[in-house]
Amino acid sequence: MKIFDYLLFILLFFLLCISESSSGQSKELPSDKASINKGRELFLNNCNVCHAISIEKIGPALSSIPKRRPLSWLLSFIKNSQSMIAAGDTHAVFIFKSYNNTVMPSFKKLSDDDIYDVLAYIQAASKTGVSKDLYPEALLSGSYGEAALHGKFLFEQQCAVCHAFDKEVIGPALGSTPKTRPISWLIPFVHNSQELIKKGDPYANFISEQYDHYKMPAFTYLSEKDIRDIFLYLNAKTSGPIHISGSNAALNPDLSPMPKLKVDPGPPRMSFEEGSHYRRFISLNLMQGLFLLGALIHIAFIIAMAFGFFKLINK
Ligand code: HEC
Ligand code: HEC
Repeated sequence: MKIFDYLLFILLFFLLCISESSSGQSKELPSDKASINKGRELFLNNCNVCHAISIEKIGPALSSIPKRRPLSWLLSFIKNSQSMIAAGDTHAVFIFKSYNNTVMPSFKKLSDDDIYDVLAYIQAASKTGVSKDLYPEALLSGSYGEAALHGKFLFEQQCAVCHAFDKEVIGPALGSTPKTRPISWLIPFVHNSQELIKKGDPYANFISEQYDHYKMPAFTYLSEKDIRDIFLYLNAKTSGPIHISGSNAALNPDLSPMPKLKVDPGPPRMSFEEGSHYRRFISLNLMQGLFLLGALIHIAFIIAMAFGFFKLINK
């Protein structure tokens, strides 16, 4: 009897171990206030210089990233993205290239739990969104405008019920998607995501699972150009200001057959030599002006003296 109890204990112990290890991959993110607050603190101290939830800064917008990448992938990417890139991880290499080979520092000092907290904060913040932060429609004007405006129209009509750029609605935020997924994947996915899922595409299956197998409708009636235009629009709407490190200035290279984002450079600038002519002119004028003013004050003073002198003699 005693031995039987003992065996039962061992059996239970093994069962526990097995269930523990099989749940290792899909560890749930913490959802309590304390973890989220700690994650926010860590995010502000370590990530905020380069990332926001809803807009692109130096790196991509991270909205709903915990649902767009496997946790195990996120964990190793955040700890050391460069080693993943060196090892040839497809997505890591793609996104590194999309950001003009900008190196994200490694965060080996963060523990697994720290990273889970950061991700928990990101996921919590992904629900709210901060549309007012987004870059203005001005980006949509100019030479780039027409295709992107067409994309805006299509997005609002076809996608906005379920998607926003900056927050999770029914589907994930799409703000940084144009740079985090290749267009060669985006076109078939938007055309018919279910078909891609059935074909066994790993990413399509992963994301579908994250959204409880919700079936995004097929958009077979949208042309390839329509779909490109939508992502052109999303890219314009969420890209950071052009001057930040130059790393996020370029459009997704995959979208290159489309007109490129051209920023109005403003009136032509003067060369340094031309400028020095003006600088000399200005400084000379200033000196001359001061001399003139000095001279006038002197003359006024002399006249006043002369008046006083004459008054004195006339007495
Ligand atoms: C110095 C800038 C910088 C800092 C700081 C930084 N990142 Fe990044 N991050 C990037 C860049 C740039 C990329 C794009 C990929 C690349 O270039 O390697 C990126 C990519 C990512 C990705 C992949 C996104 C995707 O769509 O697949 C995640 C996740 C990420 N960063 C999380 C973080 C977290 C969490 C922190 C803070 C602990 C952080 N990053 C700090 C620059 C930075
Ligand atoms: C009825 C809701 C619904 C509509 C409408 C919809 N989607 Fe989705 N979309 C989803 C859901 C849910 C997902 C998550 C994946 C899944 O369940 O297949 C998703 C995922 C995506 C993804 C993958 C994002 C990523 O970063 O991994 C893209 C891209 C996308 N949708 C683009 C579009 C575009 C473009 C349109 C409009 C032409 C659109 N969707 C319309 C619900 C929708």
